Amino acid sequence: MGIPDQLNSQPELAKNSEHLIQPWPSAKDIGEEIRTLIDSGEGIYVKDEQGNKLIDGPAGMWCTNVGHHNEILADALHDQALELSYNSPWYSRNKPSIELSRRLAEHAPGDLENVFYTTGGSTAVESALRFVQFYNNVRGRTQKKKIICREGGYHGSTYLAASLNGSQRTRNWMDYADELVIRISNPDPFRRPKGESVSEFCDNLILEFENTILQVGAENIGAFIGEPILASGGVIVAPPGYFKRIGQLCKKHEIIFIADEVVTAFGRLGHIFASEDVFDVVPDIITFAKGVTSGYFPLGGMIVSEKLTNDLRASNHPDAMYAHGFTYSSHPIGCAVALKNLDMLEGGLLEHVRNTAPYFQQKLASLADLPLVGDVRGLGLMACIECVGDLESSNPIDLDTKVGERIDRHCQALGLLLRPLIHMCVMSPPLIINRQQIDEMTAILREGISRTMDDLRDEGIWDG
Ligand SMILES: Cc1ncc(COP(=O)(O)O)c(C=O)c1O
Repeated sequence: MGIPDQLNSQPELAKNSEHLIQPWPSAKDIGEEIRTLIDSGEGIYVKDEQGNKLIDGPAGMWCTNVGHHNEILADALHDQALELSYNSPWYSRNKPSIELSRRLAEHAPGDLENVFYTTGGSTAVESALRFVQFYNNVRGRTQKKKIICREGGYHGSTYLAASLNGSQRTRNWMDYADELVIRISNPDPFRRPKGESVSEFCDNLILEFENTILQVGAENIGAFIGEPILASGGVIVAPPGYFKRIGQLCKKHEIIFIADEVVTAFGRLGHIFASEDVFDVVPDIITFAKGVTSGYFPLGGMIVSEKLTNDLRASNHPDAMYAHGFTYSSHPIGCAVALKNLDMLEGGLLEHVRNTAPYFQQKLASLADLPLVGDVRGLGLMACIECVGDLESSNPIDLDTKVGERIDRHCQALGLLLRPLIHMCVMSPPLIINRQQIDEMTAILREGISRTMDDLRDEGIWDG
């Protein structure tokens, strides 16, 4: 989040924060950065330290799906902690994880029936990637290891998962397992080559994917991984049919298709899983996290197809071991919370999202008349406003890459938190948001963007 000026000037707070390293810090202020302090939450709102009520525009990090202060989830946490706070998944089982797996298998598409739990999204992706390696080793295909991913994708912060991230600015100062990774184009229709229609753009993306497979050799490629909507890359909604066609090519070339649904699952697009219900594709593995507990407990996981597990069970190496697992795999508290969360999604919240999403998208689209706004896009209850320096070239503003932060700063002062991403603002509010609150959110955004335009003009950065 952006940093309101008044917080920067409070020495007391600075002192209190001195020992905290926040995620994704810059070298210059590591361990000293002061971000907005959030004290409490209620429904779609949070309160900052001064008691200012703010709409939680990104639902935390795309996760507080049922909203803040949900007593059903709080009770589930409390009750399960008293019933059984922990058991070792190495040599025992617990009831909540067995029941949750059964219900997730019912919701998952095709023969995706086997659930492995982790501690969040990165570990879910990491588990899936290591599963692919294990699977191919056991099947004697030890060369089949490369992973195809996309520019603009985001899959987490553990080593292998992070190696797949597509944003160059995050890659400059860190080490990655580059030898395993093949990156193909970002399927962003807004930035497609000039003169290409969206359907031509899609055809070319598919052609690029197939050519990549042919060049590298399917015998060397273990998996394709993709988010159904590239979330942290700026809510990129690929052209119609793209994800399905990628899936068909994966099948044809025996490449494991991992749908990273860490953001899109658990209601964000109006369904428990979006792969089949929204994009008409049945992957081999789905990874999930975040909304599975609405952020009330750190839990993630992967759902693996029966085909893959059957192949392993039938292999010539019955003792080969998937040497991978976490102390907190199948955590009873996380799974108990997820079960109650699922009850709420099934009990009307999914339907609410499906009914509300068109209004949400339509209201945000109305911001496209602002001269700084180049594109407004999204699906379900996730959207992105992309700012550009000039509409003709669609370039981000060169002199000031922090337009998103500027908008966030104004919006915070007006009562809205959003997620700034360089020159973009991402919105993914708690799923319980209603129409009147969407109106409130959009009005603040309009004012925040307008004030940013005034600042940019006053500072001589932009003359739009
Ligand atoms: C699509 C996707 N995959 C994986 C991750 C990593 O999840 P986590 O931060 O819970 O490790 C994220 C996080 O934003 C994500 O958006």
